[in-house]
Amino acid sequence: MDGNGRWAKRRGLPRTEGHTAGEENLAEVVRVCASRNVGWLTVFGFSTENWVRPPAEVKHILSLHKQLFGRVEELNANNVRIQWIGRPFDEPGSKTPGFIQKAIVQAIEDTAHNTGMVLTVAFDYGSRAELLRAAQLSLASHQIDQAVSTQEISSHLYAPSLPPVDVVVRTSGESRISNFMLWQIQGAKVYFTERTWPDFDVNEIDRALKLVHAR
Ligand code: IPE
Ligand code: MG
Repeated sequence: MDGNGRWAKRRGLPRTEGHTAGEENLAEVVRVCASRNVGWLTVFGFSTENWVRPPAEVKHILSLHKQLFGRVEELNANNVRIQWIGRPFDEPGSKTPGFIQKAIVQAIEDTAHNTGMVLTVAFDYGSRAELLRAAQLSLASHQIDQAVSTQEISSHLYAPSLPPVDVVVRTSGESRISNFMLWQIQGAKVYFTERTWPDFDVNEIDRALKLVHAR
């Protein structure tokens, strides 16, 4: 969900306002995707690389995650089930504070009964950290020195139930992938747009969704 800072800058607002607008837009995007019968929506909320941002900005982004995981009423109204991917809380290097851990666990529990779209939020997520862990777990489960299979790696990802990705969306005019689901996006279409995340609207969603069935 890139471009919150630029969205704010263009309006002469502090970056934090851009993040707030981005969180609000996520709620709208979730509603639209659910109405379009999207089965799985995975969003990059906060990366393993984002912790080095100024403390005040990190603090603000964390509070917005508490808010988004707290939108249980809306999620339930839209039959959306929450999932999370990211560095396990007990892993060395995990920096997720307790109040976010609680918000994540609670949101998962409070939406577990929903049968519609699965919204997976990537928080303290990095694809390389995920793949390293998957490789290590795969090797550790081996008795002898056999080769690791692709199926084993897939089964040790943070959320093995996630299906292969159909479309990757990158907002705000960036044309790179940035440590996001590098294993899972094999063969996916990519939708690049100049729009910043807070301006990513229903027309943009429909354009991205068109790629699913495009050749
Ligand atoms: C995305 O907006 C939010 C996070 C990465 C947490 P940015 O903060 O990256 O916005 P730009 O790239 O500076 O516009
Ligand atoms: Mg950015």
